[in-house]
Amino acid sequence: RNTEPGTLPLTGRHMLVTSGPTHEPLDPVRYLANRSSGKQGHAIAAALAALGARVTLVSGPVTQPDPAGVTVVRVETAREMLAACEAALPADAAVFAAAVADWRPAAPATQKMKKPADDAAPPMALVPNPDILATLSRHPQRPRLVIGFAAETERVIEHARAKLARKGCDWIVANDVSGDAMGGAENTVHLVTAAGVEDWPRLPKAEVAARLADRVAEALA
Ligand code: CTP
Ligand code: CA
Repeated sequence: RNTEPGTLPLTGRHMLVTSGPTHEPLDPVRYLANRSSGKQGHAIAAALAALGARVTLVSGPVTQPDPAGVTVVRVETAREMLAACEAALPADAAVFAAAVADWRPAAPATQKMKKPADDAAPPMALVPNPDILATLSRHPQRPRLVIGFAAETERVIEHARAKLARKGCDWIVANDVSGDAMGGAENTVHLVTAAGVEDWPRLPKAEVAARLADRVAEALA
């Protein structure tokens, strides 16, 4: 790593960030998705780049502009997101801020689905998507620092602790989405690590990103 005077704390580091929702096709014109805007994930990519990191941002479909100085890889589905993340390795740290669809339609139709003649609803079988965070946490090329998010509407810390253990990541940014966090400009988060829980105040998403980037720089120093 470059330690010349005047270089930034993450100069020479590669960071992988996921952001946005995924879209899981039902047929050529319909998909299963969620309300993630990509604001928080994109802000984290920008904050890491501002500290000098080379950043690969793997993003689902969002209307956010590409952060300056960041390599953006656009994907639609969870499976594409996983493939793009694996292709981006090695990385020193990874932040999984995307709201990945937990399930996808089992057999997307190749033509637009038509309403059945009897006016019945079509069957909609779902199958689980791969867990990108869990896969990368146990990957042979695992980044040294792996950070997940936990979007919760209740028992935020308890669920976040369980996720930390289950997924094998180092930190969880627990995110209370009971209010307007999804799509909103601000976020109330708790940083959950093996060492304990830090409660952060309600902050603009750019501030959450800047704080997290500072913590990443400290951890990798
Ligand atoms: N995540 C992922 N791949 C998935 C699902 C989730 O990488 N298929 C990541 C998210 O990007 C986030 C973390 O896992 O960093 C937690 O996502 P969340 O939806 O809160 O957790 P789940 O394990 O999916 O549990 P649930 O939705 O039941 O709360
Ligand atoms: Ca989920």
